[in-house]
Amino acid sequence: MSEDFSKINRAVKFCLERIRKGYSEDKILRELDRYIKKIKLKSLSKQDVFEIAKNRIRAKDKFGELAERLFFDDDGLRYSTPPTVAEYRAKRLRADCIADVSCGIGAQLIYFAKESKRAIGVELNEKRAFLAELNLTALKVEAEIIVGDSLSKEIVKRIEASDVDIIFSDPSRPPEEKIRSLENLEPPPEKVIEKYSAITEKIAFELPPQLSPAKISLEGEKEYTSLNFRLNRLALYRNDLAECDVSAISLPSMEKVTNEDERIEPERDGVKYFLHEIDFTVIKAGLLGNLLGKINLSASIVIDDGRRVVLSSDEESNSNFIRDYSVEEICSFNAAEINSKLKKLGAGKITLRFSLPPSEYWKVRKKLEDGLKGEEWFYLFKKDDEAIIVKALK
Ligand SMILES: C[S@@+](CC[C@H](N)C(=O)[O-])C[C@H]1O[C@@H](n2cnc3c(N)ncnc32)[C@H](O)[C@@H]1O
Repeated sequence: MSEDFSKINRAVKFCLERIRKGYSEDKILRELDRYIKKIKLKSLSKQDVFEIAKNRIRAKDKFGELAERLFFDDDGLRYSTPPTVAEYRAKRLRADCIADVSCGIGAQLIYFAKESKRAIGVELNEKRAFLAELNLTALKVEAEIIVGDSLSKEIVKRIEASDVDIIFSDPSRPPEEKIRSLENLEPPPEKVIEKYSAITEKIAFELPPQLSPAKISLEGEKEYTSLNFRLNRLALYRNDLAECDVSAISLPSMEKVTNEDERIEPERDGVKYFLHEIDFTVIKAGLLGNLLGKINLSASIVIDDGRRVVLSSDEESNSNFIRDYSVEEICSFNAAEINSKLKKLGAGKITLRFSLPPSEYWKVRKKLEDGLKGEEWFYLFKKDDEAIIVKALK
């Protein structure tokens, strides 16, 4: 692998340089063809190298600096676990030996290999398994990669012989599926349980985070993971891996709320000094009352439009699941009136925090910001036909 690794890495960098210079794909592929022949690279085609190079650029947001060192195909990047989540998951699932039985390009496996004594990855797609090998080499971590169907007898036997104590699977979901369900996942979680529960009861999955707890027919802790205030993942931990029934974790802070935290139900009351925008992760998990109980916040619901839940109270909150705002003005939801209030407040910019078709956003925002000369940044929420103008506190 090491000889191949350096050749592949050189070819990817050669391609990346030309993408960054703005060369056309045709020209790059022609030059790449000559280069690949010159360095006698056999394991990947020029199209593969082009795909990897292009995805290093795309991966920047998700992987930061690491993107420059990793190897992704298109689907492998789309479904890869972001490093902050992968690291957290690997710490929670520390084992003597963990097997990731649908490892993709290995974004999660890298962290299993770092945190557990031994790690094994199984991947059906041969090319992706090869990319996982490259990623392990790139980050100098060791794990065994097995190519094949993790539900096959042969692979189940190999995993059994490896003394695995945790099985993990992050199955593929069809990209075009409108309503997420457990049925179309590959490998199907029920089958993974059926094949592997004789080896270990400690099995964990990643499931589509759009599923609410009631839609998940499998037993275990359902842990909704927020990354930077956005619902990112849903893990299911079975048997001894479970710590409660439903939980939500906010990353990178690691603040956690569970169904076992005592609940305070929000009331229905008016707008007070502060608005509290709730991370949707907590709403999806059905844990709003538990969060309020845990941080001891008595608040009332101001907005709940199915996508955004905003509460209000006279206190600042103390939670990474909540963004606090101070209420500056309330007026009727009319562009001229909002604009005049903003001028009086010395506003320069306003971010709109209500549902709008994306094509409308800038048109509406420009109208509301017309003639603003101040320095301050405000946010605008909409409650029925009222506008609530606020300032962010954290
Ligand atoms: C969502 S991706 C995994 C992403 C990975 N967790 C990461 O962070 O990079 C799911 C992978 O499972 C693989 N897969 C699907 N069915 C499989 C099976 N029966 N055996 C092994 N791998 C399988 C797919 O080819 C795909 O690469």
